[in-house]
Amino acid sequence: MATVSASVYTSHVPAIGVAIDHAKTDEPYWQPLFAGYRPSQEWIAESTPDAIVLVFNDHATSFSLDMIPTFAIGTAPDYAVADEGWGPRPVPPVVGHPELAAHIAHSVIQQDFDLTIVNRMDVDHGLTVPLSLLFGQPAAWPCPVIPFAVNVVQYPVPSGQRCLDLGKAIRVAIESYDEPLDVQIWGTGGMSHQLQGPRAGLINSEFDARFLDDLVTRPAELATMPHIDYIREAGSEGIELVMWLIARGAMADLDGGPPPTVKHRFYHVPASNTAVGHLVLEA
Ligand code: DHB
Ligand code: FE
Repeated sequence: MATVSASVYTSHVPAIGVAIDHAKTDEPYWQPLFAGYRPSQEWIAESTPDAIVLVFNDHATSFSLDMIPTFAIGTAPDYAVADEGWGPRPVPPVVGHPELAAHIAHSVIQQDFDLTIVNRMDVDHGLTVPLSLLFGQPAAWPCPVIPFAVNVVQYPVPSGQRCLDLGKAIRVAIESYDEPLDVQIWGTGGMSHQLQGPRAGLINSEFDARFLDDLVTRPAELATMPHIDYIREAGSEGIELVMWLIARGAMADLDGGPPPTVKHRFYHVPASNTAVGHLVLEA
């Protein structure tokens, strides 16, 4: 059977992708940020999974106000890198895992979570920047990736509780897949940031530190935090953090198992307008 070996959490600021693609990672502004991901790059080189379920949000790239799926799973063999206005990032296309994705869709829908099935989708910075942060600039991504898109752009967005419960259902799905695959689940976006309106530029490091603490040790309590607290405390785009609860929900301790091990924790302010947070939890 397949197993969930680890969960990874990271921000997805598009300017990080630009810095990588334009060889700016050693510049003084960027150097501390990329130094903070080096331990995770070393870790994942030793712990490359057979597949990643990558929970991310589309930023009105493949979806739009025409259609707003709350939860959407990619079941395609591959995904093109999106053109977000300056041409697609020069990164490899994303190879999917249609068999595992179809199994997760089947299992999770049977567990009463209604997923949208996506057979064609260009993936934006929400998915490619986390891959670049962990894997650098390979000629091909080292494993298949199942894109799992969450609507955090247009209200109503799913609650933290529903995200945690969905993570538990994804774990059940993975553990019932009849092949001994090592699967990681990633939760991306956040941390505190607001890109618009009078509070544009908001960063709340105290909130972010508490969120990281609680995500590790008190995920069930953290899941009860209402949306309004994300907006007040972490800014309008801080709501992206609910996606981290999907990845956290898939760890064994929420299913009566042992707590995960913190392999790495990193926090850096700012990258562009955003507080960058990163966590690696191993089962
Ligand atoms: C920024 C952060 C995001 O999460 C995003 O989707 C776009 C821009 C930023 O800080 O610039
Ligand atoms: Fe974003």
